[in-house]
Amino acid sequence: MRNKYLVLVNKKSKIRDDWEDIIQLVRIKNVWSEDIKIEKETYKQYISLEKALKEDGINIKLDSAYRSVQSQQELWDKWVNDPEKGLAYVKKFVAAPGYSEHHTGLAIDICLEKDGELIYDNDKMLADIETFLKIHAKLADYGFILRYLKGKEDTTGYSYEPWHIRYVGSKKIAKEIMENNLTLEEYLTT
Ligand code: DAL
Ligand code: ZN
Repeated sequence: MRNKYLVLVNKKSKIRDDWEDIIQLVRIKNVWSEDIKIEKETYKQYISLEKALKEDGINIKLDSAYRSVQSQQELWDKWVNDPEKGLAYVKKFVAAPGYSEHHTGLAIDICLEKDGELIYDNDKMLADIETFLKIHAKLADYGFILRYLKGKEDTTGYSYEPWHIRYVGSKKIAKEIMENNLTLEEYLTT
């Protein structure tokens, strides 16, 4: 593979069966003190990003990273059966099992901590775009991109997700993608 960190997993491209032989997952604790896994280099860079943002007065926390096909299935079932969300929500925000970028270990959902309060609900996070824009401005310095862009829903297949960041293994590539407002799909086909 040209650069394993540029792997594309989306609504059309399933995670490859041997993916977990290709990368190294490490065990960490998320903001909820749950044991989760994440790709090793992704975590190292995330820690640096978190520290840099903290110095600017922005507190991000790691909510979700690697998810197995089974855990994506559980998530999908949970939201599809939620009376307030259901299938319409799932289609926009939740990948089908096997097709989630979270299977790569390279994607992270972040949440915010403000005045001692955790902001993790999608609608509440969408209401604080100002903070997310400051976060997005720093992502490429650590090799991360914003994966589901506003206005690019037709390309990514998902709604705008300011919290879902993706490690691409190279600050140079991340900068090229972010500076040109590209989706990973667009970057890989141009
Ligand atoms: N929220 C993203 C699309 C996922 O479920 O992988
Ligand atoms: Zn995500």
